[in-house]
Amino acid sequence: VNSGAGATPVATPAAPAPTISKEVTVLYGSQTGNAQGLAEQAGKTLEGKGFKVTVSSMSDFKPNSLKKLKNLLIVASTHGEGDPPDNALSFHEFLHGRRAPKLEDLRFSVLSLGDSSYEQFCQTGKEFDARLEELGGTRIHPRVDCDLDYDEPAEEWVNGVIEGLNEGQEQNEGLAQSAVAVEAAVESPYSRKNPFKAEVLESINLNGRGSNKETRHLELSLEGSGLTYKPGDSLGIYPENDPKLVDLLIEELNWDPEEIVTTNKQGDVRPLKEALISHFEITVLTKPLLEQALKLSGNDDLAELLAAGNEEKVKEYIDGRDLLDLVRDFGPWPVSANDFVAILRKMPARLYSISSSLEANPEEVHLTIGAVRYNTHGRDRNGVCSILCAERLEPGDTLPIYIQNNQNFKLPENPDTPIIMVGPGTGVAPFRSFMQEREEIGADGKSWMFFGDQHFVTDFLYQTEWQKWLKDGVLTKMDVAFSRDTEEKVYVQHRMKEQGKELFEWLEAGASFYVCGDEKHMAHDVHETLIDIIEKEGNMSRQNAEEYVANMQQQKRYQRDVY
Ligand code: 2AM
Repeated sequence: VNSGAGATPVATPAAPAPTISKEVTVLYGSQTGNAQGLAEQAGKTLEGKGFKVTVSSMSDFKPNSLKKLKNLLIVASTHGEGDPPDNALSFHEFLHGRRAPKLEDLRFSVLSLGDSSYEQFCQTGKEFDARLEELGGTRIHPRVDCDLDYDEPAEEWVNGVIEGLNEGQEQNEGLAQSAVAVEAAVESPYSRKNPFKAEVLESINLNGRGSNKETRHLELSLEGSGLTYKPGDSLGIYPENDPKLVDLLIEELNWDPEEIVTTNKQGDVRPLKEALISHFEITVLTKPLLEQALKLSGNDDLAELLAAGNEEKVKEYIDGRDLLDLVRDFGPWPVSANDFVAILRKMPARLYSISSSLEANPEEVHLTIGAVRYNTHGRDRNGVCSILCAERLEPGDTLPIYIQNNQNFKLPENPDTPIIMVGPGTGVAPFRSFMQEREEIGADGKSWMFFGDQHFVTDFLYQTEWQKWLKDGVLTKMDVAFSRDTEEKVYVQHRMKEQGKELFEWLEAGASFYVCGDEKHMAHDVHETLIDIIEKEGNMSRQNAEEYVANMQQQKRYQRDVY
């Protein structure tokens, strides 16, 4: 092997070559499990190449061992407005703080996940990457930012990393190629890349007549799939676009619905209409898509919108608009359908928190899906997956699905541990799963549910089930907040506050605290209320109360599944 490090013709080096470690640490920051899945996959690939790999959640990693690391790989997703995932928060803060050590000996590489329809695309990964460099680290391989369709770029990143690691390795012959036994568990052949077609067994609207809402309870069959899940896991669904919207698009562009187009890099082909229904995203605009579209149309208005310094205008335009708007606003489109669809993103799967326990419902999985309908920019618009489920899916039909394991939202290992659950609206889903599971296994731990929605009469999701669990003692306590039954709005956090004393006692007794549902408003307010309660009932300073909560998070006693 020619190391290239000087052409000194020495047959056997007198001194040992600089030791390049075969030890690699992969840390992930993951909210929904995608980054975790990729980190684990990368770990396996690296082990297969003879590296000694440790894969861990950032929340489980002791920051003071950072200094000892030689090779660090980070896989991090970004959520909300450029925020790190919950399990990345403390590590992210530590690394950016004053106590972060100098890392001159560290080699690193970052894989970031994101969604290019958000302005702060891949922000968390970018921050880790920049900071590690600032602290003195050297890159094994340049950072790779992935959009929703992350498989290919992620694979390229892993290959690049292996190459980068081996470049250092070349001089270091004689290292044992440790063969790593791959776990020989029986696994389902179905996965995100190879979804299972699950039959719809039941589809019910949980809301009563006159409600402002429609919440679908779906029951799907897993029979024959070998798929399993735990309470807290999510289900991925590959939905189909509304055929009516696809027709409008085809009409607008004067295309032939039967024209054959290419749907992916592997060169698979489909008739245009079918491709637009199942393979491409047509309801979300992103800046990269607008830029590609400009290359196709050369439209002056689009060019002006995309001119430098117009970030805010682009954001405003993208917000709530879809491909049909783009096509109508910035034509003409003197391109073939095949060239046009080539700029579209692949249809991403939608994730829903599973609302059943497999223990209680063998070979079934249940979902609780809020129908999304709104009117904006002069047109009625629908959520792709929720409206497919609400309006076009009938028992007997099938849906392509996969299980998304979520290690960040799990029942306590000890069934005696008390749990507090806050889940208004569709946030109720995983807690129905928790209760079913605890009932099924005969868990002794106390449990306390906070539920909220607009109206008691029409919106109390799974009311009779909750009442039965209360009666049977599976559920210890339940507090409800119906926001639109009274003059003044009441929300779940108001109920928490009313019961602050007892809630704090539960926490002191070791209860785990779970929140599921709307992130921006509800989960944020519940978080603040939790700190308020601890501050007051624990007679603590604000700072100590915040630390108390951070500690709970660290111990996995505070878990969130928010969207
Ligand atoms: P609202 O729609 O009447 O404002 C489930 O959607 C429930 O969550 C509804 O009762 C809704 O009330 C309520 N909700 C809205 N904003 C909230 C917030 N910031 N905190 C807690 N609950 C909220």
